[in-house]
Amino acid sequence: MRKRILTGITTTGTPHIGNYLGAIKPALELVAPDNDSYFFLADYHALIKQTDPKEITGSVKNVALAWLSSGLDPEQSYFYRQSDIPEVQELAWILNCSAAKGLLNRAHAYKAIVAENTLSGSDEDKGINMGLFSYPVLMAADILIFNATHVPVGPDQAQHMEMTRDIAGKFNHTYSNILTLPEALIQNEISVPGNDGRKMSKSYNNIIPFLSSEKALQKSIAKIVTNSLKPGESKDCETCTLFKLYSFFATADEINDMKQSYKDGISWGEVKKSLFDAINDEILPIREKYTELKDQPDLLNDLFSDGARKVRPQAQELISKLREAVGISKIV
Ligand code: TRP
Repeated sequence: MRKRILTGITTTGTPHIGNYLGAIKPALELVAPDNDSYFFLADYHALIKQTDPKEITGSVKNVALAWLSSGLDPEQSYFYRQSDIPEVQELAWILNCSAAKGLLNRAHAYKAIVAENTLSGSDEDKGINMGLFSYPVLMAADILIFNATHVPVGPDQAQHMEMTRDIAGKFNHTYSNILTLPEALIQNEISVPGNDGRKMSKSYNNIIPFLSSEKALQKSIAKIVTNSLKPGESKDCETCTLFKLYSFFATADEINDMKQSYKDGISWGEVKKSLFDAINDEILPIREKYTELKDQPDLLNDLFSDGARKVRPQAQELISKLREAVGISKIV
């Protein structure tokens, strides 16, 4: 059977090198002529955490640009906005009526906030909206609406995938066997360090931008913290942020040569130069594409409409089957 690969990207913030290596690149590597692939912008998911409309629109643009610049070809994959497929919301409601509240009570993200609130002596549901609570149901709808068979996600999403199968199974058992139970393709946790050595994250303010000018990339690499060993002094690559970053972009031979250079006492300046070259070589075509697309909002809007036009009939077909199954149908 043809694999149907589907994944969503919550549209918050601007993607950085860590997102590129951990999510964008591995997902695009799954695109192949004998698979169908669906990539979508989970903009309604973003509303859970972001109430600034400008941020929402801006992030949809940046995330779309990141994927398109990194090689997503809308002729080869379906690429659309979640909000352009209203059937997803309709399915989410139907699934809400199959999903056990107890199941959602066990969601890690929800439980973590409850635990924090309890610890600080606040009401346990402080700051929790229903969107956050039922997040996994909307995610299940995203997946089930297109009968996805394989869903590449990070390890933090494994529980949501279990819930999707659980909710779909419950629906199928109650009504009829309509929904496809998807398999999770859990991507390896790759830990990309930021410029201070901690995990790269917007909240640590340590990101290395990837949709940036050459200058900005250079500046950001210059800021990476090293120890004060001098040129000629032997250095340890295993604990070095520069080396870790370099390993994501260099070939096996280049990595081995670099290991030797550390032993031989390469200067930090030279390592930074090699790191810059390695990252820059990989993102050169991405930057070019980004520069070409970033000031063409109409082109992006057209792409979104096209994407929705292609996939919506599939969603409508499933919804009519489901309506029929639950009894929302013509009276006789
Ligand atoms: N929850 C996912 C994340 O934060 C994003 C997402 C939303 C998703 N809907 C999805 C991923 C459906 C895969 C399939 O990473």
